[in-house]
Amino acid sequence: MSSKKFTWGLFSLMIVAVLVLSACGAAATAVPPTATAAPAAKSSVEIFSWWVGPGEADGLAAMIKLFNAQYPQYTITNAAVAGGAGTNAQAVLATRLAANNPPDSWQAHAGQETIGTYVAGNEVKPLDDFYASSGFGKVLPATLLPLISKDGHPYSVPVNIHRSNVMWYSPKVLTAAGVTLPTGGFASWSDFFAACDKIKAAGKTCLSLGPEGFTAMHLFENVMIGSMGAAKWSGLWTTPPTTDWAGADVTAALANYQKVLSYTNSDASTLSDWQPAAKMVADGDAAFNIMGDWAEGYFANAAPNGLALKPHTDFDWTPTPGTQGIFVFLSDSFVLPIGNKNPAGTMAWLTIAASKAGQEAFNPLKGSICARTDCNQALFSEYSQNAAKDWASNTVVGSLTHGVVANNNWKAAIDTALKLYLTDPTKTADFQTALAAACKSAGSCQ
Ligand code: GAL
Repeated sequence: MSSKKFTWGLFSLMIVAVLVLSACGAAATAVPPTATAAPAAKSSVEIFSWWVGPGEADGLAAMIKLFNAQYPQYTITNAAVAGGAGTNAQAVLATRLAANNPPDSWQAHAGQETIGTYVAGNEVKPLDDFYASSGFGKVLPATLLPLISKDGHPYSVPVNIHRSNVMWYSPKVLTAAGVTLPTGGFASWSDFFAACDKIKAAGKTCLSLGPEGFTAMHLFENVMIGSMGAAKWSGLWTTPPTTDWAGADVTAALANYQKVLSYTNSDASTLSDWQPAAKMVADGDAAFNIMGDWAEGYFANAAPNGLALKPHTDFDWTPTPGTQGIFVFLSDSFVLPIGNKNPAGTMAWLTIAASKAGQEAFNPLKGSICARTDCNQALFSEYSQNAAKDWASNTVVGSLTHGVVANNNWKAAIDTALKLYLTDPTKTADFQTALAAACKSAGSCQ
């Protein structure tokens, strides 16, 4: 047991003792001597996330189960708000924070979402003591620690690493359309378009897409990275940017994005979330779907939350076009809010989230790999074992959609520009102008 956990355990025992003693004191005056004191009430720990839908809820449930077994003095209030990528949850959270009513802990992406939003907004506490007593920092990858730290202080507990640039596909649809996937994936978007023409001719949707909430931005980041490469993508997010938002690389990427959209299902905006779009691949209605590897949890997990599909037969995967050797990453983490109701309960939750057992329970069901470097790989699927190898060997860049490269304000400005663009995808020049303006208003571009 870590000394921190021990301290919190001791603290809770003292509280229980105080409660029991004061209950006994009250009993002496108010109830007959034969009555026994009622057991101390469990205190609630409110955990806020967006892991509620198919393929999302299983991992969280596994971590909560472990928490309940280890900390019977608490009960988790699962305050998950539905909506992939936190599109609804983050709005609810912002309202609660504005009203000084934070949950006991919330899901925050490593990177600018944590540092440029919650730390900058003075909403969360540093976790130096926890990191020092648990040694957690020592088992985190060198890439990750700086993304949850400011001025050397860590501010959150990363529980996983997800990959954004995965293209899921239906082997059956590809075979029926006479499409052979090149080893390692499509080298370029033009190669992908050539395959799409065959799939379209075979009467299937080439690329399934979900509603605007976040799936269009998820596709956008992957087209950008697959078109301009890792270094130029990362150059969009430095201050000042080394890649010009108004320049030719972005123009060429947006031309690809316009073309990709022409191969997607026309009912995308009517789908409820990312799952129905992923399911089009599982059902053999679409050849491809671009989605983070939480989709693997959805495809492979048992019913009712998963589709219990067989890898390589019912679904398969490849990097998104043009991103071979690149790992577009994001990481979910949990924070210790300023002014929350149950700080001791939050520390217990963070202890579970950081632990090897917690991460080994959560990640195999979530489709992610552990944030920790010491998880037992035998617990993971073939997909995840390969993802762990790629994470260790590929060029790693950050996701926009999932909070790594831009803070929430900048991301919201890009989202507004993107949603306007989607009303008329011929207007790529206007879209690019709006993207350059978003960089300026974020204070990154001159
Ligand atoms: C991401 C999150 C993932 C997954 C996904 C879909 O932002 O990091 O864990 O939940 O959204 O909802």
